[in-house]
Amino acid sequence: LRVRKIPGAEEALMLIDSIYIHEAEKNKGKWKAYFKNNNPIHAEFGGGKGKFIIEMAISNPHINFIMVDMVTEVMLKAAQKAQELELSNLKMIRIDLRYAKQFFDANELERIYLNFSDPWPKKKHYKRRLTYRDFLMTYRDILIPDGEIHFKTDNRGLFEFSLNEFAELDLVMKNISLDLHKNSDVPYCTTEYEEKFIALGQPIYRIEVKFRNEKKES
Ligand SMILES: C[S@@+](CC[C@H](N)C(=O)[O-])C[C@H]1O[C@@H](n2cnc3c(N)ncnc32)[C@H](O)[C@@H]1O
Repeated sequence: LRVRKIPGAEEALMLIDSIYIHEAEKNKGKWKAYFKNNNPIHAEFGGGKGKFIIEMAISNPHINFIMVDMVTEVMLKAAQKAQELELSNLKMIRIDLRYAKQFFDANELERIYLNFSDPWPKKKHYKRRLTYRDFLMTYRDILIPDGEIHFKTDNRGLFEFSLNEFAELDLVMKNISLDLHKNSDVPYCTTEYEEKFIALGQPIYRIEVKFRNEKKES
């Protein structure tokens, strides 16, 4: 994803402090206290301009949401939208997910959404894909034992790669779809990228996975 630099974006983002959390590592292990309730926490990893997570936050007031992205410019757009809507159950943090464990403690998240993650199509870049096994091992640590990862993508190659990674780690797989929007009554919020691919008539692949409980102890 290439993004045009916006002068002052960093400063503008810092001002949206009802949504954007600077120095988010201070909340590690304390996210529930930060939201001031005991509601489950769902995170979107690589949330982009925020359409999906904002709609999720509006329709699920009893779930807390954290959007993660590493690009200031897209997060600024997402944070501005969320601020206008005065959503108290949505926060955003700008971090590189390679360092997710500096920001989330064990068992802090009930669910992780991966939506249209960058495919990194070149073979030599496979370790950057957010469904690469090292990322999955991190997700395992920060998710509760029954926590789920919900993944959707338009990219067949990334989907195939991800299925193999899930199988390699012996994850439980369910609700697999090779054409999510074939039937019109899909109960899930769509993302910016998803809308583009639907308009192009491209199929969306989707899967839900979770780790086997016994692996948590290892
Ligand atoms: C292709 S966009 C998809 C955005 C959105 N989920 C959607 O479906 O419209 C992928 C997003 O993931 C973010 N991203 C990729 N790798 C990341 C990483 N290692 N840490 C944090 N964010 C990352 C990018 O900055 C980008 O905004």
